[in-house]
Amino acid sequence: MKLSEKLAILEEEERRASQGDSMASMPPAARRRPVKARTRRGADHWDANKRKVLDLVREEMAPRMAALSGPALAGEVKEALDRILQREDVQVSPLERRKFVRELIQDALGYGPLDPLLQDPTVTEIMCNAFDDIWVEREGRLHPTDGAFTDDVQYRQVIEKIVSAVGRRIDESSPMVDARLPDGSRVNAIMPPLALHGSVLTIRKFAADPFEAKDLVNFGTWTMDLALVLEACVRGKLNVLVSGGTGTGKTTNLNVLSSFIPEGERVITIEDSAELQLQQPHVVNLEARPPNAEGQGEVRIRDLVKNSLRMRPDRIIVGEVRGAEALDMLQAMNTGHEGSLTTVHANSPRDALSRLETMVLMAGYDLPVRAIREQIVSALHLIMQVDRMPDGRRVVTAVTEVQGLEGDVVLLQDVFRYRMLPGEGGRPGGELVATGLRPKLVDRLESLGIEVPAKVFRAPVVTPEPSELRGRRARVPSPRELAEPERAR
Ligand SMILES: Nc1ncnc2c1ncn2[C@@H]1O[C@H](COP(=O)(O)OP(=O)(O)OP(=O)(O)O)[C@@H](O)[C@H]1O
Ligand SMILES: [Mg+2]
Repeated sequence: MKLSEKLAILEEEERRASQGDSMASMPPAARRRPVKARTRRGADHWDANKRKVLDLVREEMAPRMAALSGPALAGEVKEALDRILQREDVQVSPLERRKFVRELIQDALGYGPLDPLLQDPTVTEIMCNAFDDIWVEREGRLHPTDGAFTDDVQYRQVIEKIVSAVGRRIDESSPMVDARLPDGSRVNAIMPPLALHGSVLTIRKFAADPFEAKDLVNFGTWTMDLALVLEACVRGKLNVLVSGGTGTGKTTNLNVLSSFIPEGERVITIEDSAELQLQQPHVVNLEARPPNAEGQGEVRIRDLVKNSLRMRPDRIIVGEVRGAEALDMLQAMNTGHEGSLTTVHANSPRDALSRLETMVLMAGYDLPVRAIREQIVSALHLIMQVDRMPDGRRVVTAVTEVQGLEGDVVLLQDVFRYRMLPGEGGRPGGELVATGLRPKLVDRLESLGIEVPAKVFRAPVVTPEPSELRGRRARVPSPRELAEPERAR
């Protein structure tokens, strides 16, 4: 009997067994509880069975595995499973057998317990600290999961499978590596001796449907006014730097900003690990390369920026500047490749500037600080600061214009600033508001025929609550109160 037929019978048995079962009306998570609550002995038995069958599948498939992929591989693995389950004595109850087969197929073809998390659209990041310690991020917050790899061996096999698929390797001599899943998700793996307590795998999931400006407005990350200004700035070829901490949404904001680039332009993207998803028809994606096992063949972001200048770019988008490429990027922005966009890891617009200065110094030229600042000031027009709030929301906290140099100091002027407000139900709230100052870049945009309505820069009129006024009004102390300290003395 074929496995598919067997599964149909088992499904029918399962359905009959669950009819009249009070658990049938429970939500799926509650129905799974008996399996989750398996005794340790039961779990060991289950895992041992899975190990045995998986090893046999691998043994049978090994000679043909490399030549197969996609549906052909899936078909062969299912057939091998069919044969092995008929031949071997696998002690799994008929009710659990369906789950057993499903997990086996998942383990043999996919990424084991990561598969359901990869398919779950509410999960944005997956973090494995150990084979049985898997965390996910949902709506900006971390949650532990009850999924686990069978053991450390399976965990390592999955890491190796992911890494080797992009032609890289992970072992003691190269214990940290960046990779990508076939769907584009960004993967980082690091193993001992660098990770003290075992291998750690971090997956930033790839949005099947990348966020658009309207999504960021809906999430409260942007306001409509900000979207209008940013669109005008990108169309008007101003150079914009997105600044923020780890995982605050720099790449996402950069991607949305680049969606404003007009279709006719040739865009070159340069990244360490390709994440940007530009929708324009004329885009060239370049990806840096780490050195090989012999320490050779490295291609740095810096090399790619230099090379891109010979590729007739209209715009250069660098995923993130981390080092000496900052100098090349500033020079490109200053020499006719305006409208370039990039991100930097920094905590405020001012901090972003000092990070840039440090990175320019990394290029190894003994440039005086003033010369570097002059470069920065003439290259950069706008800095957009993104942040993650304690409740997981990602927001733009400042949009700042780089106005010029006064003496040795770079003049920064906030155009929009995030204002903290008491939120609903005791939760923190806030909004991005205009500071009321008309940025200089508007003149430049107007000279290009790009109009930005003046109202977007108008600061909101804040009428204080009567209770606030009451708090602020000076209170005259009573004669009795005034006398109190005297008496104390
Ligand atoms: N405005 C937003 N609202 C909700 N989720 C967001 C928002 N921006 C980004 N995200 C989600 O946050 C996660 C991190 O985003 P992103 O990769 O853009 O951050 P990053 O700052 O580039 O991170 P890193 O420093 O690791 O490169 C992603 O899963 C993304 O989908
Ligand atoms: Mg990023």
